Parts: sequence; structure tokens; C-alpha cells
Amino acid sequence: MSDTQLLTYEPAPDRAPSRARGESPPFIELPMPDMSSGAPLMKALALRASTREFSDAPLALATLGALLWAADGVNRPASGGRTAPSARAVNEIDLYAVLPNGVYRYDSPSHRLVLKQASDARNLTGYQDFVGEAPLDLVYVVNMSRLLDMPVQQRNIFSAVAVGAMAQNVALYCASQGLGNVVRGWINHRLLSEALRLNEDELPILAQTVGALGTTLTSLAD
Ligand SMILES: Cc1cc2nc3c(=O)[nH]c(=O)nc-3n(C[C@H](O)[C@H](O)[C@H](O)COP(=O)(O)O)c2cc1C
Repeated sequence: MSDTQLLTYEPAPDRAPSRARGESPPFIELPMPDMSSGAPLMKALALRASTREFSDAPLALATLGALLWAADGVNRPASGGRTAPSARAVNEIDLYAVLPNGVYRYDSPSHRLVLKQASDARNLTGYQDFVGEAPLDLVYVVNMSRLLDMPVQQRNIFSAVAVGAMAQNVALYCASQGLGNVVRGWINHRLLSEALRLNEDELPILAQTVGALGTTLTSLAD
């Protein structure tokens, strides 16, 4: 940073998560998806698009379960294989579901959500207004400690590729179910790390908002 930049530099203001809306159970057992539901793959590909206007209606538990399974669920129980690839199957990406009733980590092997923090941190997952109003913000977090056996120059690339595959799984699930979604790289890493209570070796790299198509109250106020 130059001296001029240093003089004008202002750190991002601190923002706190809101109080959780509703109960925040320590675990949320998720239903397995109905494998015959939704539009076929080619139709979903034809419909895939980013959305930035969402209804604030909560997602049904069945939808949440299917969406997270689509993202990175176990689809081959015998081997533990998942719906998204990961270099050497180290599964370095953790998926967080930031919901009105809490911040949860998706545990793929048990197909359940594990409570990280009982607060509504949706407004901390990005700078755009809709992120605090839509019913779900996903956050993709790289756990660098799982990449220590990988050459340094491959770690960022491979983890970004893995996140891209997961986010596209979600986008196609949304398209197949008539839901809206947008992936978001415009995030405040420090705020998000605090909101998700991450360790120093855990790095949030992408967010993705999901919800029914509609107009959030915030958008109406704009
Ligand atoms: C890595 C990545 C980061 C993105 N970050 C944002 C973002 O922060 N906010 C946003 O509204 N859209 C974001 N997008 C969505 C793109 O703007 C969008 O994909 C692009 O405009 C093409 O539109 P489409 O997805 O409807 O085809 C991002 C997309 C990618 C792949």
C-alpha cells in the first residue's frame, strides 16, 4: 500500500450477527432426497442462471436436505464417495449453511447439520442486500490443514475447482426445482471467518445464496 492509500484506508466496519430466529438445535437430521424429483439434467442446464431477487420464505427441510446432498452428499456409501469430486478425495471443503436460526456445518457422512453458532449471520455473508433476507446462504470453506500433503502450488487451484463443482451441483439442483441461486465471491473474509467461528487454517472462499424466486423486502425498499 502507498502512503496515500494508507492515509485513506478505512477498515471494514464491524458488524454483528443478529439474534437467531427460532430454535437452534445442536444437530438437524436431514431427510435423504427423493432421487426421482426435479427436472431432468438437460432441462436443468437449460434453466441454470444467477438470481438476485429472492423470496424470504423459509426452505422446507426436505429441500435443504436434497440441496446439501446435491452439493457434496455421500452418493456411494460403500466408499464414502460424494456427489462432487475432490483431488485425492481429501474432501478439503467444508460447507456451511447460514440459516435464520443458526450457522451450521453440513456433515456429509451423517447427512446432518451441526450447529456452529446460534445466531442469524446471513447479513455477514456478503455485501449485497439480498444475502440477509434470502432463507439460505451457503459458504464454502477450505480447510487448509487437509491439503498439507499436496504441493503448495496446487492447493489453491484444486480447492477452487472443488468448490466450483459443489456450487454448480447446487445451481443445477436449484434449476431443477425452480429455486433461485447466485454464487458470490464478493465476501468479507474476516467478518465471515468470525461469523462462522473458523480457525486460522480455515478460509471462506465462496458464498451462494439460495431461495425461492421472488422479491425480498430489502429489494422492495431499494
Ligand atoms: C467465482 C464467481 C464469483 C461471483 N461473485 C458474484 C458476486 O459476488 N455477486 C453476484 O451477484 N454475482 C456473482 N457471480 C455471478 C456472476 O455475476 C454471474 O455468473 C454472471 O453475471 C453470469 O450470469 P449467469 O450466472 O446468470 O449466467 C459470481 C460468479 C462466479 C463464477
